[in-house]
Amino acid sequence: MTFRNPAMKCRACEQRASIHMPQHKLIFCREHFLEWMLAQTARFIKKYQMFPPGARLLAAVSGGKDSLSLWDALWRLGCAVDGLYLHLGIGGEAGYSDASEQAARRFAGERGLALYVIPVQQAYGESVPQMAARTHRGRLRPCSVCGLVKRYLMNRYALEHGYDALVTGHNLDDEVGVLYGNVLAWQMDLLRRQAPVLQGGEGFVRKAKPFCRFYERETAAYALLRGIDYIEDECPFAEGSTLLENKEALNRLESLHPGMKLHFYSGFLNARAQMFGSSGTGLAEGEESGGMKRCPTCGQPTQAAGKCAWCKLVNP
Ligand code: AMP
Ligand code: FES
Ligand code: ZN
Ligand code: ZN
Repeated sequence: MTFRNPAMKCRACEQRASIHMPQHKLIFCREHFLEWMLAQTARFIKKYQMFPPGARLLAAVSGGKDSLSLWDALWRLGCAVDGLYLHLGIGGEAGYSDASEQAARRFAGERGLALYVIPVQQAYGESVPQMAARTHRGRLRPCSVCGLVKRYLMNRYALEHGYDALVTGHNLDDEVGVLYGNVLAWQMDLLRRQAPVLQGGEGFVRKAKPFCRFYERETAAYALLRGIDYIEDECPFAEGSTLLENKEALNRLESLHPGMKLHFYSGFLNARAQMFGSSGTGLAEGEESGGMKRCPTCGQPTQAAGKCAWCKLVNP
């Protein structure tokens, strides 16, 4: 993507171009790029039957460019969409979580949107890194415990407040990074569930990823050209992760073959459709395990008999 090459003209209006997207063979000015992003978002929502018009949506926002751009786009498309921010207690005082919360609050305040904040340490006695440090799987890196905390709290909050769907800001780079990892390890159960939308039911809210076909460069350009003030820092624990390594490998391939990520992803969705039935929709969570049990402590679904993984973590 090239910014402001004076020789380039917008495909739609002949004004000076702001963005060149060789992977789509498109060149746009600011205004037409922003318009294109909204039209594409609406198209993906419809194509993958993510949610019907009028659905009550909850956007999980991290304060980063993807989720804030998504919230902005859905709001401009006329969706009824509130925000949820989880303060995970990362980076100590005035650190990563505090700065991210401020970005999310600023964004919501400027637009008059409702943002709910769950301060994990205040609500449950420990920050996510503190919870992780107590456990075997979180000793070296809190990311896997953090993933559990995010999945559980987002799902529970969305269900308890009657939202029709939870939307997250996953972009194409995230999706192909995860896909590549799942293919390398032939994680068939994860491949079955990797989809633009997961049906709800049995204690799970419907989950959708309306930005799953946008390159990260496109969501970054959207945030920049829209003037969204987002947190640029990544979570400090992400450094050196396998997902980042996979993303770097895919970036090298994409630079040699523009459009490769989108081909890989849409090819996967077509193959999924042939193998499992539907390209856009993943299984409802828990479906493949033949029904879930209910946690005796919190009532949320769990595969194990007895307490769910979250309750074991916070009330061992
Ligand atoms: P990540 O797992 O960090 O790549 O984030 C994927 C998506 O999860 C983001 O685009 C957000 O929609 C959501 N998300 C991540 N962190 C948070 C958070 N602290 N609070 C709410 N939503 C989040
Ligand atoms: Fe959870 Fe980094 S965002 S460990
Ligand atoms: Zn234009
Ligand atoms: Zn529980």
